[in-house]
Amino acid sequence: MSDLDGLVALVTGGASGIGLAAALALTDRGARVAVLDVVVDGLPDTLVGFRADVTDRASVVAAVDAAADRLGGLDILVNNAGIGAVGTVEENDDEQWARVLDVNVVGMARVTAAALPHLRRSSAASVINLCSVAALNGLPQRALYASSKGAVLSLTYAMATDHVREGIRVNAVSPGTVSTQWVDRMVANFPDPVAERAALDARQATGRMVTPEEVAGAICYLASPTSGSTTGTALVVDGGITHLRVRPL
Ligand code: NAI
Repeated sequence: MSDLDGLVALVTGGASGIGLAAALALTDRGARVAVLDVVVDGLPDTLVGFRADVTDRASVVAAVDAAADRLGGLDILVNNAGIGAVGTVEENDDEQWARVLDVNVVGMARVTAAALPHLRRSSAASVINLCSVAALNGLPQRALYASSKGAVLSLTYAMATDHVREGIRVNAVSPGTVSTQWVDRMVANFPDPVAERAALDARQATGRMVTPEEVAGAICYLASPTSGSTTGTALVVDGGITHLRVRPL
């Protein structure tokens, strides 16, 4: 027996990076897993894809209901879909601010609202929101992105409070920089992508970026019924960037 046997999970943004690693790890631990993403072609056979955009409420409600119908309910929601932004407050325009907050913050509220009627029927309901160390650390050129993740942290505490008496746990995972396609796209925009990647590795106390599988392990921990007393927390998986001050090599 695995701890997630018999449970159903839905992972937003599960077609790539951290979301895909989480979907596969949840499957390995026994869950049946649906992926909600704007692109669901080419998913591994063990995952069931539902196309939806987290900025479109109608498509979110349709996908969440279809996933619960197909897999027989919903116990675990991983709110992972998100987009990045680089820049100071002078460098992101109003359209970028609206877009990033719509995907990263309002998207989580939309998906969770659609999932709640299903989660209320579960005896092991757990919601995990993808936050970031950017929520609590001043990182350069992340004004918009950090604001969105600060909002995710506040949203996590508020949702955890609203739904604790319904037996629904809500937690966040706050990764440091994770080596995914997201980082590949970001460093490609710098004049020297190799140097930028090396700087991101060096910024971690461990000297390397976090892996998607390491974040997936934290998500599985929070998803598990064995973590039944853990709610309203943010589990940091950051290679030491938040609290450790090591000497430069
Ligand atoms: P990624 O870019 O590899 O994957 C993001 C997934 O979300 C993609 O499959 C994409 O299609 C999907 N997505 C984007 N917009 C969507 C929308 N409107 N509707 C539905 N799906 C949408 O990104 P990665 O690195 O795996 O990041 C996942 C989450 O982890 C994000 O919330 C991000 O903020 C967070 N995170 C990432 C870190 C990193 O360094 N990569 C660090 C800390 C947090």
